[in-house]
Amino acid sequence: MEIIRAPNYEDLSKKAAIIIASQLIQKPQSVLGLATGGTPEGLYMEIVKLAENGTISFAQVQSFNLDEYYGLAASHPQSYHSYMQKHLFSKVDIKQENIHFPDGMASDMQMFCNCYEQAMGNAGGIDLQILGIGHNGHIGFNEPANCFSASTHLVSLAESTIAANSRYFDSSADMPRKAITMGIGTIMRAKRILLIASASKRAAVERMLYGPVTPKFPASILQYHTNVQVIYYG
Ligand code: PGA
Repeated sequence: MEIIRAPNYEDLSKKAAIIIASQLIQKPQSVLGLATGGTPEGLYMEIVKLAENGTISFAQVQSFNLDEYYGLAASHPQSYHSYMQKHLFSKVDIKQENIHFPDGMASDMQMFCNCYEQAMGNAGGIDLQILGIGHNGHIGFNEPANCFSASTHLVSLAESTIAANSRYFDSSADMPRKAITMGIGTIMRAKRILLIASASKRAAVERMLYGPVTPKFPASILQYHTNVQVIYYG
């Protein structure tokens, strides 16, 4: 793993944006795995600047998002789909048909998850996967468990995740209790991974980097991936 300590959030966001930009410059038809959450907001702001000044283009990019709440329509203001529209998709030249998202309203969840994995495979696999990390070591919504999950699946969210993400909803009762997420296997199949974490996640980042590899702390599996960059500060 390559570990980059940034002096602050702004610098972390800029460095992460430059890494994504270099990926797109080297391979304009890249397949990106995208993440949501508080941490990547600055990164998307920096990417939009690079797209606006013509340094990069999303015209040939395909994107696959990591996760989505179960039971929320794409149009729901707190869906991750809405988050991506707001922070990135509406501001760059990505083609709508090249945006792929877990469907929180899928009627046949198993069939949807299989199709999502198939679509990633058909696109040639993820070239660069962006990740955040939870205090409990989750990546995507892969919560601590007894084994690592192989592929995209429906999960029950951990109480700590519900508590952390409830801030985005009117009340904790409105926060979904389930989500669809790429599996640990899906994430590990990405050719390259960029994990970003803000100051409050320092303990989680250090446990991921130096602790035992265990599904009880899912991000620890990244120690076994051969091309991971981690940018954090604090
Ligand atoms: P964040 O968390 O909202 O602090 O970026 C990301 C995560 O929990 O995966």
